[in-house]
Amino acid sequence: MKVRKAVIPVAGLGTRFLPASKAIPKEMLTIVDRPTIQYIVEEVVASGIEQIILITSAGKSAIENHFDYDSALDHALIEKGKTRLAEEMNHLSNLIDVVSVRQKKPMGLGHAIWMAREVVGNEPFAVLLGDDLVLSEQPCLKQMINLFNEVQESVVAVQRVPQKETCQYGIVEGTLQSKRVHKIERMVEKPAPGTTPSDMAIIGRYILQPDIFDILGTTTPGHGGEIQLTDALLALTHSRGMYAYEFEGTRFDAGDKLGYLKAIIAFALRHPDVCENFSDHLKEIAQTL
Ligand code: G1P
Repeated sequence: MKVRKAVIPVAGLGTRFLPASKAIPKEMLTIVDRPTIQYIVEEVVASGIEQIILITSAGKSAIENHFDYDSALDHALIEKGKTRLAEEMNHLSNLIDVVSVRQKKPMGLGHAIWMAREVVGNEPFAVLLGDDLVLSEQPCLKQMINLFNEVQESVVAVQRVPQKETCQYGIVEGTLQSKRVHKIERMVEKPAPGTTPSDMAIIGRYILQPDIFDILGTTTPGHGGEIQLTDALLALTHSRGMYAYEFEGTRFDAGDKLGYLKAIIAFALRHPDVCENFSDHLKEIAQTL
């Protein structure tokens, strides 16, 4: 079956980014000239997905507005003769079909995904976490869809992390099947140091079989007292199998201050409007360090 829908949970409070995220959603913080959520949506579109399901909460309407048509802005830009900008804004509002579902209480990532069950229905779907930005030649999600089309089972994207950082991620253990592809045997959310030999960390990209919804419906709170997606994934691994895929590209944790700054530098160095001057500026700064 084809992967046509992508769930993007954006209900989180963004406490790691306070005070910046107090009055605007953290997903709307800018990297060069667009909010982080736009990079995620562009990856989804470039991977051939047809519909996005945003799992939102109170105070997140700026995200929905960002992908909506704004007639006042459109008219103002046209009146000022800024037709190219008006076209760009229209392109943004026509990028993809967007559906929103409200998560009324913060009960964990697993619960947020479960909220999408009615809109997704009985078909495989993607999940992308807004904090994880990936720079790659072929979109990370597209790489995963290619694998999914071969194996027709759930796929999670992983990257190797230093042992001391495994406690910050969902960690998978498995056996290598082919280049970059591991058959998952075990997974654990944010393991205590020294409790897993694996260094394969799940990053925020998943393709899931819809069986996950029934499992999530009965998953009890785990790490941090929240309903964890990783716990439900482990159950799905046992019932029908799952693959970990070491994607090609560089991932940035844009939900962390340092990761966000690194992402700004990486994306600015690839942005046609600023790359040259910005690169010169960085070289100048480097000389003074
Ligand atoms: C979530 C997941 C975790 C995953 C991580 C990737 O954790 O629960 O399994 O490794 O995203 O960014 P969070 O960072 O939201 O605590």
